[in-house]
Amino acid sequence: MTSPSPDHAPTGARDVPPPGCPAHGLVSDELLQLDGPEGNADPRGMYEKLRKKHGSVAPVALADGTHAWLVLGYDENREVMRNSSVYSRDSRLWTQSLPENSPLAPTVQWQPVCVFADGEEHQRLREALTASLDRCDRRGLRRHITRFANQLVDSFETGRSGGRVDLVAEFAEQLPMLVMTQLFGMPEEYGPDLVTAARDLMKGTENAQASNAFLVEKLEELVARKKSRPGPDIASWLLQHPANLTEEEVMQHLRLILVAANETTVSLISSVLEMNLTDARFRGSLAGGQMTLSDGLQHVLWDRPPLSVVPGRWATGDTRLGGQDIKAGDMLLLGLAAANTDPAVRPDLSEPMHGNSAHLTFSLGSHECPGGSIGRAITETGIDVLLERLPDLRLGVEPRELTRTSSWLSQRLDTLPATFTHRNEPKTINTRTKKATAPKPEAVSPVADDSENAGRHPRKPLFRFLARR
Ligand code: HEM
Repeated sequence: MTSPSPDHAPTGARDVPPPGCPAHGLVSDELLQLDGPEGNADPRGMYEKLRKKHGSVAPVALADGTHAWLVLGYDENREVMRNSSVYSRDSRLWTQSLPENSPLAPTVQWQPVCVFADGEEHQRLREALTASLDRCDRRGLRRHITRFANQLVDSFETGRSGGRVDLVAEFAEQLPMLVMTQLFGMPEEYGPDLVTAARDLMKGTENAQASNAFLVEKLEELVARKKSRPGPDIASWLLQHPANLTEEEVMQHLRLILVAANETTVSLISSVLEMNLTDARFRGSLAGGQMTLSDGLQHVLWDRPPLSVVPGRWATGDTRLGGQDIKAGDMLLLGLAAANTDPAVRPDLSEPMHGNSAHLTFSLGSHECPGGSIGRAITETGIDVLLERLPDLRLGVEPRELTRTSSWLSQRLDTLPATFTHRNEPKTINTRTKKATAPKPEAVSPVADDSENAGRHPRKPLFRFLARR
């Protein structure tokens, strides 16, 4: 979940010679390479192959020459997530050395942030983080999302016969970061540059290091400013929290939040929009009223988790999991996508998962994602605005022309070209313009996400859109 950090000390992985493979006794060429072409092209096929061969926990090889245990089973993933005294987050326990330039470095190289901490230290950092995220006012959040979603729709180019837009580049990749800059109390004009920086980090382009430096510089400026002039924002709340985070810790956690929030939410928005524009069954269920947008989101969270695999956990001692002998210091990879499709809990994958939020997409236990409700709110409210403004949005290419960048960690759509002939005026509030009208009571109702009643009622704009189709 963390981004490359050139300024951090090298990995904490101990310089102990790699034991060959975590499943001591197996030779490495017997291992399937999780991040090889086979795994990247068809992750689900790879999981099933591994499940058949090894059961719910499989030894796997990674392209950088390291080895790990991929946890495929739903129950086994829960066990690892919930048991931090046996399965630690501290990558310094690893008995293998991280090879130089390993693509794993951004995710497993130890850093002084809550992601790599356990116990009391984790609790101290995590309490500050969760308390600050929880202070975000739901109505304010919805207002920011609505305003930025409207601005993005306004920026789509149109001609005489309507408009054409790439919903990934011009919508999904923009919205989360714009909203997060507001929640952080950052100047709005930083938004577009931060979007570019986050994209460089995410795609690992040659600009990744410069982008990381830019991100750190802007966050340091923000922390210094909020120290002298606090405001109602996450940066100030982190600084003021009784856990007494240092300025460096605040900066590091702001960076963690930005990267963690952006990458995942961009992917979630893209997947829901893709389903909407390409999957007749998904669309039909929405149109027929059997499914609300919240239900649709739930479905995507089960079947297309933004993070397929989370590296990792490290065994604090010898133990057994899913019939395998795990040795102290072995690395485990949480197989979220594999767990969500485990035949033991989902014998029929075509069964709708509406109203069932027991997926492991946000993980569980002490490291469970603290920003899930914010990510879901950005996705749901943003898509609601988009569909209300562009009621006849259609896919602009054949579905088979859509391409995605796949890795063993995540899968993401490259582009989602769409067309529209009509653009409605924004009906919702715009807090920045004088023309803005007062919000109607329902426009500022709490964000429909994880609340008890979330998504019980179909959303009108979506229904109008679907009915037309
Ligand atoms: C909407 C899509 C999102 C998904 C699918 C997602 C998923 C995850 C997952 C799987 C983890 C790893 C948990 C573990 O190691 O057990 C995680 C951690 C984290 N996420 Fe999210 N996330 C999302 C959005 C967000 C947002 C919007 C924020 C912030 C506003 C956020 C902040 C974090 C942080 C700070 C962590 C580290 C927590 C810790 O280690 O204690 N995430 N997320």
